[in-house]
Amino acid sequence: MHEQVTVRTLFKKKQEGKKITMVSTYDYISAKLCDQVGIDCVLVGDSLGMVFQGLESTLYVSLDEMIYHAKAVKRGIKRAFLIVDMPFMSYQVSKEDAIRNCGRVMKETGANAVKLEGGEDIAELIHKLVSIGIPVVGHVGFTPQSVHALGGYRLVGKKEDEAQKLKRDFKALEEAGAFMIVLESVPSYLAQELTRDSKSITIGIGAGPHCDGQVLVFHDLVGLVEDIKPKFVKRYAQGAEVFRQALQKYKEEVEKGIFPSEEESYG
Ligand code: KIV
Repeated sequence: MHEQVTVRTLFKKKQEGKKITMVSTYDYISAKLCDQVGIDCVLVGDSLGMVFQGLESTLYVSLDEMIYHAKAVKRGIKRAFLIVDMPFMSYQVSKEDAIRNCGRVMKETGANAVKLEGGEDIAELIHKLVSIGIPVVGHVGFTPQSVHALGGYRLVGKKEDEAQKLKRDFKALEEAGAFMIVLESVPSYLAQELTRDSKSITIGIGAGPHCDGQVLVFHDLVGLVEDIKPKFVKRYAQGAEVFRQALQKYKEEVEKGIFPSEEESYG
């Protein structure tokens, strides 16, 4: 029986130079699989809007939906550290509103931490959340909730002004007390520089190999998402093809009267 992963476990891994693993997922079964193989952190990402709900961006996901999925994921994990994304407009309206909503996530789902997108603008809020006792994960670089403002899905930080802003945002999160910061779609050399000088744990997605850990979406890494494949995704299985073949076989067997046989029938 493995011990529950905590903030302390994660910092120990960073100090020892051991890579931290994170998977973003939305349901009981996949969370259980992640936990069984010893993935350190399970994130209930608001990417569920696109991957689970089939929407065009993460902007439409509600707080109630995040809570619903996080509760299911929580039931699937015994040891992994559970992080829940705060969806668009659940923390931007006012500090009071944001604190109430983060508190709801912690109380109703059993999460170990919340994740918020943004930099300098949300540093004060993060400081307050941390002082209340809520561990916070930051998220900078490409921030999907700002897809319209950023002008589409793209690498962030290649141009000098963007790199400087990224560094300022990162520093602000670190100083505010975010114990972990996700770096999404940023040049490898920048992620390396930020990780090297950072007190916070860095987790990369499309940020190269130098971060303290990596995150991928479950459905991407098992090959269930077929229509899009960003450069940073590696498919470790052909999940969609495996499932298609199973469904095809089931269809054929039912149509031919092969399934159910005696073996699957009650006498
Ligand atoms: O929503 C999500 O799944 C995420 C990760 C990809 C970092 O934010």
